[in-house]
Amino acid sequence: MSKTITFIVQPGGQLRGEARVPGDKSMSHRSIMLGSLAEGVTHVKGFLEAEDALATLQAFRDMGVHIEGPIDGCVTIHGVGKHGLKPPQKELYLGNSGTSMRLLSGLLAGQPFNTVLTGDKSLSGRPMKRVTEPLAAMGADIKATEKGTAPLVITGQAGQLQGIDYTMPMASAQVKSCLLLAGMYAQGETSVTEPAPTRDHTERMLSGFSYPVKQQGSKVSITAEGKLTATDIDVPSDISSAAFFLVGASIAPGSGILLKHVGINPTRTGVISILRLMGASIEILNERVVGGEPVADLHVVYKPLKGIDIPEELVPLAIDEFPVLFVAAAYAEGQTRLSGAEELRVKESDRIQVMVDGLQILGVAAKPTPDGMLIQGGGKIGGGVVTSHGDHRIAMAFAIAGLCASAPITILDCANVNTSFPEFKELARNLGLALTCEDGADVKGC
Ligand code: S3P
Repeated sequence: MSKTITFIVQPGGQLRGEARVPGDKSMSHRSIMLGSLAEGVTHVKGFLEAEDALATLQAFRDMGVHIEGPIDGCVTIHGVGKHGLKPPQKELYLGNSGTSMRLLSGLLAGQPFNTVLTGDKSLSGRPMKRVTEPLAAMGADIKATEKGTAPLVITGQAGQLQGIDYTMPMASAQVKSCLLLAGMYAQGETSVTEPAPTRDHTERMLSGFSYPVKQQGSKVSITAEGKLTATDIDVPSDISSAAFFLVGASIAPGSGILLKHVGINPTRTGVISILRLMGASIEILNERVVGGEPVADLHVVYKPLKGIDIPEELVPLAIDEFPVLFVAAAYAEGQTRLSGAEELRVKESDRIQVMVDGLQILGVAAKPTPDGMLIQGGGKIGGGVVTSHGDHRIAMAFAIAGLCASAPITILDCANVNTSFPEFKELARNLGLALTCEDGADVKGC
């Protein structure tokens, strides 16, 4: 008995037309967190109505915040102030969402109540020591499993946390954001230094809520001296969702698309840089700043790609886009080499192994390395049955691969596309992807 959703893609398509992909996931999470802790009413538009961001929204409702919506991407948050959260009556279930769990662990470490954070099977296997260890150094009391995974049992240490000066061993925006949120409740200054630039939405949004944050090179610092003042937030489209169509239009002859109102924060545009190095034709049009975040329309037309050595400094700036970038590499002429990307092994799935397995089934010469992949592109890409292992971005990446394959591709286990991009099927079909969907016995969603 199948418990999942299956995608089937017929080859021979091309992508044409205009689309606005849904709101940015990282910013949607943060809008709920900071709006809840603000004084006053925050209006959010462009909020991502997908399972991950909704898990964060529900968690704050469970902690007593009155939140209206979402209705057509609009959410109204009646902020309770920095010290206004209430103890939840039950554990906070965060589904598949690593961002919810890691950021909340910091925010809840210094509250005057206790919480338990749980998640689905994938989230319960993901490393949490990267947040629990530095939080413990601040005086937090968080118990995880022996392996350092969820559930996280947090005993709130109101007034007891101490600021730290922490250098992250990996480039992680979730760890940085977790510690900054804890730092809002700690004595003294909390500083985080990153080994390479990572997405800075937390810092930008804190400033948007008038909360002081200090940035000195790669170090960002915060103290408990400050309050959040409600503001209006306009969430742009998620470049991580746009990425599927950037690649689709680049690999399918005859394609030409315009993706509207996409967030192009420089800490997120690695996918554009990498595709351009591969020879893609991507124009950035109508650049503007919306609510402190750069936004643009992206015009992409088909152009044959070539394999490259991906510069390591671009890895954190494109960290969520590698599944679909591997598909671009499979269609590119010559070899693509990725290194310095061991973080891909601890995402919603092991994205190196799962993509290699699927690409090999389709006849692509893909070889895993401990921190990346070697792909010999340009050969024929066949059809076959692959599995996403419940990873939303793997499912969508293989759907895009189907555009130019020589036979249909069937992708198993696609229900989790709803965690980040529930409109994917409809939007992809509107642009020209011949995608059909089959419901499993227990899951409806096609
Ligand atoms: C995110 C940070 C990244 C990214 C994730 C969202 C965030 O994770 O992969 O999808 O919103 O801060 P890491 O911090 O683990 O790199």
